[in-house]
Amino acid sequence: MDRLIEELKNNFGYDHFRDGQRTIIEDVMNGRDTLGILPTGTGKSLCYQLPAHLLKGVTVVVSPLISLMVDQVKQLKAQGIKAVTAINSFMDRNERIRVTKNLDRYKLIYVSPEMLQNDDIVDGLKRTGVDLFVIDEAHCISQWGHEFRTDYLKLHLVIEELGDPTVLALSATATPEVQDDILEKLNKPDMNKRIHPMDKTNISFAVKHVTTPESKLIEITQLLERTHVPTMIYFSSRQWAERVATELQTKLNKRIAFYHGGMEQTDRMLVQQQFMNDQLDIICCTSAFGMGVDKKNIRLIIHFHFPPQLESFIQEIGRAGRDGAASASLLLYAPKDHYLPQMLIESELPDVNRLPGILNYVERKRGQNGVLPLDEVIIGDLELSESQWNFIHFQMEQAGMVDNRHIMKPTEDPDFLQKLTMLVQERWTYKQNKLNEMVHWIHETGCRRVSLYQSFQDNTRLPEVPCCDACEFDIDEIEWQEVNRTEIAGGTWEERLASIFGRGVAR
Ligand SMILES: Nc1ncnc2c1ncn2[C@@H]1O[C@H](COP(=O)(O)OP(=O)(O)OP(=O)(O)O)[C@@H](O)[C@H]1O
Ligand SMILES: [Mg+2]
Ligand SMILES: [Zn+2]
Repeated sequence: MDRLIEELKNNFGYDHFRDGQRTIIEDVMNGRDTLGILPTGTGKSLCYQLPAHLLKGVTVVVSPLISLMVDQVKQLKAQGIKAVTAINSFMDRNERIRVTKNLDRYKLIYVSPEMLQNDDIVDGLKRTGVDLFVIDEAHCISQWGHEFRTDYLKLHLVIEELGDPTVLALSATATPEVQDDILEKLNKPDMNKRIHPMDKTNISFAVKHVTTPESKLIEITQLLERTHVPTMIYFSSRQWAERVATELQTKLNKRIAFYHGGMEQTDRMLVQQQFMNDQLDIICCTSAFGMGVDKKNIRLIIHFHFPPQLESFIQEIGRAGRDGAASASLLLYAPKDHYLPQMLIESELPDVNRLPGILNYVERKRGQNGVLPLDEVIIGDLELSESQWNFIHFQMEQAGMVDNRHIMKPTEDPDFLQKLTMLVQERWTYKQNKLNEMVHWIHETGCRRVSLYQSFQDNTRLPEVPCCDACEFDIDEIEWQEVNRTEIAGGTWEERLASIFGRGVAR
């Protein structure tokens, strides 16, 4: 038995690697910077967890969500891998100081991009010696880095500061364009690419056009009355997630909860745990839920609202059928549904007409000592969203006008305003195109599988389940079978497939 297999077996209890894992692990062990694209749920974590174990120094994993980090740490500890921790804003100060002082005790350290802006943490990591720097969910660099979480765009500085360790960027969804953006933003143009097909062959696709939000609720109720499988329903609005959860609770005899970013961190963790442990049947959530959530038996993903881009849609439907068993995606569409994502785009980017006024305000407020007011003050005074201000602030940083501590000097670039305007317009067009692609897919009349994945890969594989509503799949005719909770958890792949879809699908 070769060494890697032996380590895989001893530490993780698996007999063989899944597609793509081995090559990426070998690349990383040989010190090659790598971008790895593997479909959702296929085992990207192992691509750094195994090297972390074998490498002498520390492995740092940049992860976008606290719940994701906490989950992974818990899972690893349960597997007997103890030298692992997550540094995040949820930790109290003393705990953070204690962990930061003792970084050399760990092999694997999860951290948010924001935490890596903290000098103490970076200094600590530098002293300890980082061998591998991982960016999990690397599409966040491109998707969130520009507005929402600009610290993603500063990771290249951290990598440099840490003495250029091997870099591994992982994602399940990245178009060639996004792949290039990741390489550019990490400042690693020569990164080695390991791109695998990301189409999910065990998911059937359906879109239903209805007239109103109320008719969506009726559709969902009817479907879920006879469908007893773990289900996620995605919303673009917190209010809608709560409202539908509450209505379904009165209509269905099921355990239902909602989850969104406006909830307390502890409540969110509780709901996530309950869903993971099969203590909830249905979760009504916003995009805040789901990233990296490793629940194997989700069978049905319903989109009450569609996300603003295909990448997000692929991520979200990819949460179904992680065990390989047959699963389905249903998107409900009503006219006017595009208003919500349109508003989202508008709330993420500043209005170009307001830019001169905003820059004037900032200049006026700078005060004698050159310190800008707190972000919250600026956001409140100017009635900007956090993303809008982050976007402007980051560009001011790039132009050398303001540093981390908010010390500001006037710009020496006479074209700053013009450049900023152009950048906003560029991002606006980009997001608008993404949204158009998504809407286009909803109105697609050809095979949905082919059109969903065509900008990500050359060919789609033959599905193992009925393909889509353009290829004779009818979600209303699936013979969902009663699945009791113990059955969900056990059984072989084939048994579960048969128990959930019955003898297949009536055509
Ligand atoms: N070689 C393997 N053999 C068997 N199971 C594996 C193997 N590698 C990983 N797994 C299991 O596959 C599941 C999914 O892994 P993981 O969470 O890493 O997926 P992922 O690719 O990161 O998905 P996502 O895109 O949703 O983040 C885990 O439960 C993991 O234990
Ligand atoms: Mg993952
Ligand atoms: Zn099809």
